Amino acid sequence: MLRRNVILCQRAFSRPLSTRLVLGIETSCDDTGAAVLDETGLILGESLHSQKDVHLKTGGIIPVVAQRLHKENIARVVQEALDKSGIAPRDLSAVATTVKPGLALSLGIGLEYSLNFIQRHKMSFIPIHHMEAHALTVRMNQPVPFPFLVLLISGGHCLLAVARDIDDFLLLGKALDEAPGDTLDKVARRLSLVKHPKCSTLSGGQAIELLAREGNRLKFHFKSPMGQHYDCNFSFAGLRNQVSRMISKKEEEEGIQKGEILSCVNDIAAAAQHTVASHIARRTHRAILFCKARGLLPQSRPSLVVSGGVACNNYIRKTLQIVTEATEFDLLCPPAKLCTDNGVMIAWNGVEKLREGKGIVTHVAHIRYEPKAPLGTDITGQVKEAAIQVPPLKLKISQ
Ligand code: KG4
Ligand code: ZN
Repeated sequence: MLRRNVILCQRAFSRPLSTRLVLGIETSCDDTGAAVLDETGLILGESLHSQKDVHLKTGGIIPVVAQRLHKENIARVVQEALDKSGIAPRDLSAVATTVKPGLALSLGIGLEYSLNFIQRHKMSFIPIHHMEAHALTVRMNQPVPFPFLVLLISGGHCLLAVARDIDDFLLLGKALDEAPGDTLDKVARRLSLVKHPKCSTLSGGQAIELLAREGNRLKFHFKSPMGQHYDCNFSFAGLRNQVSRMISKKEEEEGIQKGEILSCVNDIAAAAQHTVASHIARRTHRAILFCKARGLLPQSRPSLVVSGGVACNNYIRKTLQIVTEATEFDLLCPPAKLCTDNGVMIAWNGVEKLREGKGIVTHVAHIRYEPKAPLGTDITGQVKEAAIQVPPLKLKISQ
């Protein structure tokens, strides 16, 4: 008890008395997150309930299950964040909540809870775009000025954009079918990695990264997607099919049933991860060259910010580093814990909006959630028209 009081006193002293406080709430997919931040970005309290273990068992996210779990956990998660911060609801200035894009049933729980909360405690509401929040999280820990290039890679999204302001983005490219995290999760499922002794509690992407460290990527060759498309869009579904076909072939050769672990599992993981990484690297390289050609970024040491769950992958980060070193960009990533979905990044986006007086809603009657919501102004057509050829780069990564 004494220790808790000491911590609360320290927080009270390190925070300017006049600072405004924001409660952030995230429920767009399969994580229930909440956090209380002050206006400087100091995290006063946070809580996160991940549904990963449940979805690993069912072999993917079932929206009604995700909805039920959000419903069961949201009040506890918010209370835990408030308790850790030592802040009473009446002392908050605003609640910031993800309202787009995401799973409809999941978004609905966060929005309904938030609207009840602000009506009960009388405060402002700040609706948050999940991808904008991922894009700006990096600014919590370091001063990254606008404009910068951002690559968002997660289980639900894959896009390249220029961030020009907290509410101003230019979309350069996006996934045409599925996101890289989704592909890695499906490959991991096809390889039955939940049954692998080293991987039973890991997400698909984490499992592939772990096994790939022990594998030889050169044992398999998968064709890199969209080689003849000189734009910045992404496609991963064809690659997933190539990998699935190879797994079936190997199962037949090794005389094992679907569901058993292949002896060459590490090599397949390494080759699949490398192809995902090099596809992402080439599209990002083209986006960098497009931004240079159009003068969209500062001339001296512009930044490439990478975030989203797949940005936790060290092999992918190293591949991107080769691109940024060749093009004289700085590569910036938020800490891994802030790359995956959480309440902190939503609260931070709320703080940035509150500071600038943007996107704050006092009449909430018309607020709705939006499962589909593009990011910013779409200039993917201009990127395609520019048809920039990317010079070859040797993507040789030591694990
Ligand atoms: O950002 P996030 O928490 O949720 C979405 O908005 O999707 O990302 C989750 C995704 C999952 O597909 C997971 O497999 C992937 O991020 N992921 C990784 C790694 N850690 C998480 N993918 C590759 N390597 C990792 N280390
Ligand atoms: Zn996300």
